[in-house]
Amino acid sequence: PLPAARSIAALRQTVQSWRTAGLRIGFVPTMGALHAGHLSLVELARSRADRVVVSIFVNPTQFAPHEDFTKYPRQEMADAAKLAAFGVDLLYAPVVEEMYPAEAATTVVVDVVTRRLDGVFRPTHFAGVATIVAKLLNQVRPDVAVFGEKDYQQLLVVKRLAADLDLGVEILPGPTVREADGLAMSSRNAYLSPEDRAIAASLPATLQLVAAQLKGGGDAAPILDAGRSQLLKAGFREIQYLDLADAQTLEPLARADRPARLLVAALVGQTRLIDNVAV
Ligand code: PAJ
Repeated sequence: PLPAARSIAALRQTVQSWRTAGLRIGFVPTMGALHAGHLSLVELARSRADRVVVSIFVNPTQFAPHEDFTKYPRQEMADAAKLAAFGVDLLYAPVVEEMYPAEAATTVVVDVVTRRLDGVFRPTHFAGVATIVAKLLNQVRPDVAVFGEKDYQQLLVVKRLAADLDLGVEILPGPTVREADGLAMSSRNAYLSPEDRAIAASLPATLQLVAAQLKGGGDAAPILDAGRSQLLKAGFREIQYLDLADAQTLEPLARADRPARLLVAALVGQTRLIDNVAV
């Protein structure tokens, strides 16, 4: 069975003993409901460290009041079995009362890279992410922490945070793991009805098509407009954004004349899906 720490003190006791033994520590933060995407990050961490800690904490501060915090899938028994099978050394599953005591008054805000894209549609989201990731990295103090490219803007936020606060941790990106039809794996895919799941499959297909067109280096605006129309025609209810951005800064790009990323957020039924690809 997989050892679990439920308090900061218990976590530190185990991690400290490893550090005293001179071992390298890898860390994968998650909100649970683990799938093959999460487990690929665990394998990356294992390949770069002697001991791997995975956290499961559904972080309330990164959900807006109208979002899915209460219905977010929670399945810690199944998650622990998966992590044990993947050779994880410690599950860190803190309780909300210790992560956010009533008197807590500090929020970590990363500016600039949070201004666009998801930052527009989820204006409090990245402060919640940055705050919990700063806390988790301080609690575990890993040598390397792995974050998925699936949440590309989040990955850039975490890189900025680690550099700006001198956290002394290497932030390692992991490629997006997809279902057979291309849909990016996500704990939120469990919300999709069979009809919505079929519509969702058009998201990665459209991204690939639009990215291929953008690679020509022509004016991005008409290509992106056609992509948005295509997604609506496929059955998406709303396209929050389908944008071309600089791969490092997420500044919007008029054409793919440097390393770029194509990013999308779209609603199918009540479910919000995000995805992105390199251009
Ligand atoms: P969660 O959505 O559980 O994702 C945990 C990690 O898995 C993130 O780094 C995410 O980018 C990565 N991930 C999710 N789906 C993936 C896929 N299909 N392929 C590869 N990696 C994937 O992201 C969070 O939790 C939270 O915001 C967190 C960072 C834990 C802070 O609360």
